[in-house]
Amino acid sequence: VIGVTLLLLYLSKDDTSSSNPSDLSNLVESKPLPIPPLLEDVNPDPNLAEFHLTAQHGVTEILDGIESETLGYNGNILGPVIKVHEGDRVKVVMKNDLREATTLHWHGLRVDGENDGGPHSGIKPGETWEPEFTIEQPAATLWYHPHRMHATAKQVYEGLAGLFIIEDAVSDSLPIPKDYGVNDFPIIIQDKQLDASGNMQYDPGMNDMMMGLYGNAYLVNGAISPYLEVPKGMVRLRLLNGSNGRTYHFELHNGQEFYQIASDGGFLEKPVEMTSLTLSPAERAEILVDFSALETGDEITLIDTVSELGKTISEDEVEVMKFTVTDTESEAYPIPEQLTEIDTIDPADAVVTREMVMAGVGSTLTINDKSMDMGVIDEVVNLNDTEIWEVSNKRTGVQGGMAHPFHLHGVQFQVIDRDGNPPPANETGWKDTILVEPGETVRIITTFNHKGIFMYHCHILEHEDAGMMGQYEVK
Ligand code: C2O
Ligand code: CU
Ligand code: CU
Repeated sequence: VIGVTLLLLYLSKDDTSSSNPSDLSNLVESKPLPIPPLLEDVNPDPNLAEFHLTAQHGVTEILDGIESETLGYNGNILGPVIKVHEGDRVKVVMKNDLREATTLHWHGLRVDGENDGGPHSGIKPGETWEPEFTIEQPAATLWYHPHRMHATAKQVYEGLAGLFIIEDAVSDSLPIPKDYGVNDFPIIIQDKQLDASGNMQYDPGMNDMMMGLYGNAYLVNGAISPYLEVPKGMVRLRLLNGSNGRTYHFELHNGQEFYQIASDGGFLEKPVEMTSLTLSPAERAEILVDFSALETGDEITLIDTVSELGKTISEDEVEVMKFTVTDTESEAYPIPEQLTEIDTIDPADAVVTREMVMAGVGSTLTINDKSMDMGVIDEVVNLNDTEIWEVSNKRTGVQGGMAHPFHLHGVQFQVIDRDGNPPPANETGWKDTILVEPGETVRIITTFNHKGIFMYHCHILEHEDAGMMGQYEVK
């Protein structure tokens, strides 16, 4: 049996070394996994789905009997799941009840710039914002979060994030688990820096600002190390890495295999069998896990096998959450041979190759040697053009740099290659965020079908806020 470090790590904010590690485990009793509610469509008009969100202050009991101040949409922490169907006309009324300005960005959604919710679309305290758009993309697990200039890291960290799920004819007809909260579960993983008083306010140290914030506690759907009762059968997990800075390497502690069926922008063509899954900030993966061979009462732990440069938080694996197998036998779901069909974009159709060079450390994080300037449009793209973006990560700094998850607004893209080699099987579908290792070059391709101003940036939120971001305009 693999030793699993129960919970958490150090109280120290210095995550490179800690001579006095103390853990919070005596302050936490494992709770059931909170399942965010599905948000109700409040508009009786069948041709318009209307959703109301309010960003607000709240308190959440993360440590036992201790209230932490958090932020949430329509609640204390995180937000409800918005579920729509391809072809839907959608209107959202977003009210800001915070004491500060915010924005609401649809991460992964293909919409015009004015509805994208990037840093230009500020919503002042007490005001509302009403984007409207049509869903023109396949079934996928997307998400929403604030995007205010220099405040994204803080607002997401303190609790503002939620899932945005698209269904379509393919997802409707595939014989896979799709009963929300029964065999189809949202799993939002975020690490936080908590102290014994439950303080979860955003207060990054020097190292966090440079490397991205790494917490001492793993939260899933807002709860520490929760458990989820699962049927003795196939379960679908919609994983979102909603963390500010941490990249996870997930495994099941019993070494059991699972199948990735979707990446950021939707289903892969075929399920990919794996025993370990890497997910960098903002990336999503839908996986199928088969619990049918287990016994009632068995506990399977989802672990993070961490060990990145200067970031080792434990000698062992860290528990993220547990699955407890119940005696409910569920319908059998064989792993589908084929999930969907994806039209590969032909690199010969690209009219231009744009270079995006990520570089720097600390306070000088740049893309193409520039730091984000709200007044500057860095790239201009012609509407409906297909382009290749060659995204590289220049080795910098004494330790040779660090990996950056590059994200592009307003589109889903395909990965042509990594350093000239074909991407791994789980990166052959639609993506909107791609981890680029130091020294690596990744070529991506997409067609720009929506007008407006959009961002591209590193999705380590401390890096984004520090200016590792640029703007492109499609016209
Ligand atoms: Cu998750 Cu610029 O966004
Ligand atoms: Cu985005
Ligand atoms: Cu970065």
